[in-house]
Amino acid sequence: MPWRNTHNRWGHMAQLLHWSVAGLIFALMALGWIAELTPLSPGKLTLFYWHKSLGMLVLALVLVRLGWRAGNPAPPLPAGLPRWEPIMAHATHAFLYLLIILMPVSGWLINSASGIPFKIFWVLPLPAISPVSTQLEHIFESFHLVLFWVLAAVLLGHIGAALRHHFLLHNSILRRMLPFVSNEREDA
Ligand code: HEM
Ligand code: HEM
Repeated sequence: MPWRNTHNRWGHMAQLLHWSVAGLIFALMALGWIAELTPLSPGKLTLFYWHKSLGMLVLALVLVRLGWRAGNPAPPLPAGLPRWEPIMAHATHAFLYLLIILMPVSGWLINSASGIPFKIFWVLPLPAISPVSTQLEHIFESFHLVLFWVLAAVLLGHIGAALRHHFLLHNSILRRMLPFVSNEREDA
């Protein structure tokens, strides 16, 4: 089983990390809003516990992902794309990495400024990375919310581009990120 990337396909490790982080981020977006809209209750606190724990898991997985990527170069995009497309794709991917790091870090900052002690998955104490301050807490909350909308917009573009390549341009770009799917369209 090819765990490493090949010249024309993402390896299983990169695929596993891409799809697990994607699934977690969609879940966190929903969980964030549900927790936010739930009236104050023990249930609301449990929702936030899960939100914060899974959010910190995303941060860890993104760091693993970047480490894996550093030792395992990305497969080059298929030839024949217009010149702007690889530039646009690389810029979007770099921005996505930045956003999925800043999103959990801003959550971590909210939690630190609130001064509420928190243990990731009820086990690992999360150290504070900011002084306790209500004013800072509100600033970090606004930052978390703005990042959410920016991430949602960039993701729409990312997903739209992947679907366009698959359904309109009929190339292998989506297939090479999918597990259990052959790469037969590679040269199409
Ligand atoms: C929260 C959701 C998602 C995030 C944060 C995300 C992020 C990323 C990033 C950062 C890359 C670049 C990988 C690298 O060069 O190391 C990438 C690649 C890719 N993503 Fe996503 N993605 C998400 C969801 C999706 C979805 C839903 C689709 C499909 C509809 C998709 C399709 C792809 C494809 C096909 C590639 C590979 C592009 C290539 O071969 O160059 N992604 N994604
Ligand atoms: C990729 C990771 C994350 C995503 C996509 C995400 C998304 C969201 C969303 C959509 C909301 C509701 C809208 C808002 O009020 O901002 C929210 C709220 C919140 N999140 Fe996150 N979050 C992530 C990580 C984290 C982490 C790691 C923490 C803490 C350690 C955290 C703490 C919070 C808090 C405290 C709120 C409530 C903010 C308020 O009352 O205004 N989040 N998050």
